[in-house]
Amino acid sequence: MILSCVGKYKKYALLTPLAIMLEVLMEISIPYVMSKIIDVGINNGDMAYVVKMGVLMILMAIFSLTMAITAGRFAAVAAMGFSSNLRKKLFYKLSDFSFHNIDKYSTASLSTRMTTDITNAQQAFMMLIRSAVRSPMMLVSATLMATNINSELAVTFFVAIPILAVILGAIIRIVHPRFRIMLERYDKMNSIVQETLIAIRAVKAFVRGDHETEKFEEAANSVRKAQLAAEKIVILNMPAMQFIAYSCMISVLWFGGNKIIAGTMLTGELISFLTYIMQILMSLMMLSMIFITFVFARASISRINEIFNEVPDINNDDADKNLKVKDGSIKFKNVSFSYSKNKNNITLSDVSFEIGSGETVGILGGTGSSKTTLVQLIPRLYDVLEGEVEVGGNNVKKYTLDHLRDEVAMVLQKNVLFSGSIIDNLRWGDKNASDEEIIKACKAAQAHEFIEKFPDGYNTILGQGGVNLSGGQKQRLCIARALLKKPKIIILDDSTSAVDTATDKKIRDALRTNLAHTTSITIAQRVTSVMEADKIIILDDGKINAVGTHADLLENNEIYRELYTSQQKGVQE
Ligand SMILES: Nc1ncnc2c1ncn2[C@@H]1O[C@H](COP(=O)(O)OP(=O)(O)OP(=O)(O)O)[C@@H](O)[C@H]1O
Ligand SMILES: [Mg+2]
Repeated sequence: MILSCVGKYKKYALLTPLAIMLEVLMEISIPYVMSKIIDVGINNGDMAYVVKMGVLMILMAIFSLTMAITAGRFAAVAAMGFSSNLRKKLFYKLSDFSFHNIDKYSTASLSTRMTTDITNAQQAFMMLIRSAVRSPMMLVSATLMATNINSELAVTFFVAIPILAVILGAIIRIVHPRFRIMLERYDKMNSIVQETLIAIRAVKAFVRGDHETEKFEEAANSVRKAQLAAEKIVILNMPAMQFIAYSCMISVLWFGGNKIIAGTMLTGELISFLTYIMQILMSLMMLSMIFITFVFARASISRINEIFNEVPDINNDDADKNLKVKDGSIKFKNVSFSYSKNKNNITLSDVSFEIGSGETVGILGGTGSSKTTLVQLIPRLYDVLEGEVEVGGNNVKKYTLDHLRDEVAMVLQKNVLFSGSIIDNLRWGDKNASDEEIIKACKAAQAHEFIEKFPDGYNTILGQGGVNLSGGQKQRLCIARALLKKPKIIILDDSTSAVDTATDKKIRDALRTNLAHTTSITIAQRVTSVMEADKIIILDDGKINAVGTHADLLENNEIYRELYTSQQKGVQE
């Protein structure tokens, strides 16, 4: 339950309604005192009574004001604390998400949920502990007081309130789905902004600026339309309220005036009755605003709850906490995989192979042949649909994710660096790495040389995503970072595609000497990058086409031979 996020701010959340209760008590008593001043003091010309009651009224007003300020402060503290806790909890939850969970929501939608939706929930919470206590209390007690003064006149608002309730109910019913649509369009707009900003270089290079602007304008317009559709119903709230308020006042003045003339009511009574009516109508107005805020927040809260209810599908449920990966052997047994977890939409089918600990393995295959998909199953970035993946002789599900991923380092095809210094990025691999270890890893990844050339060397600050590095430099930093983990298995997914062939060879040679006991899997486009491997796996359309050494495959495998000869030709020409 979202409300549990109040946590240590509960005290403030409970004190707020208390302060408000006292405030309401005062506000309700003031008109009563006033009617006494008029009907008893002034009518009898008793000045001492007027002064006594007048002073009492001032004291009550001061007390009521103090309580209102206190309640406001407490409510603010509780609401900010609530939203900050909620945001933290949501963030922790997101960090447990698997790739599959993340694929389901767009990152833009996740960030709207973290920001706009939480702000909406925060406002609703503030309303809940403040106005949602004040208005009904005010409504009930003012109604009681007014009925007490004159029950016949009170009939007016017993007629008015149900009418108002029906109108409000209708507004809320219409508006709720419109708010939901509005938030979805916000997601879409945010995703366009995010995408354009991330890919701003590509946008400029392809002179697609106008196109992106158009796309954004379209999205912004659709947000505007959705907002308009919701708000034009919401604003009906005001005129409906006012119409009913003034109708009440007029009828009370009419009937009350007649009663005074007939001598069945006192002037002071009518004046305080009118004040109560104002209080009743004000609290009804507040109530309607509270409802609208809640309806709006309900759309947001259900979006937040969607995240809380999302079950991270990759977890440690089947893991043995003490089991460590003992070596770098890998075994795939009849593995099938689908991104949509659907047997009719298979990306990998019936893949079986074995890799011994310390072997070097190459994976080749055309683009889209599921190479990346295959290796992602080893550190359990996704779970298999059928079959088993074993690492170090045990099913990957038997290890905790921490233990497994500590031993399986994967350099992703889309490499990611964070803003911060080069050394900070490298320490991601091992936060306790010594300078010597870092330099050694960078030398192996052929990164040391270019890092040294930067004026600030290892302390060079990288922009977001490493924008101030070349593609090949980024790749080499990512390899160095993976090496620092000293894993039992290292997976390089097309990690040297942006590096020239000579450097590529140097990296391979260095890896072979540095990682003699580490299983290494290299996905490559170039045959030369993998031809010295102990084993080469050829993937074709999600299936294993062949497994063998360079010599085997050259002799027996059509795909490999073609790839090899075509690439050799390229070199010789
Ligand atoms: N996150 C994802 N959700 C759904 N489908 C995906 C996802 N990632 C990849 N695919 C699909 O899975 C198939 C295999 O993709 P994969 O990335 O494994 O290919 P690849 O062999 O690594 O290609 P490349 O050489 O271009 O990197 C493709 O058809 C792709 O459209
Ligand atoms: Mg790939």
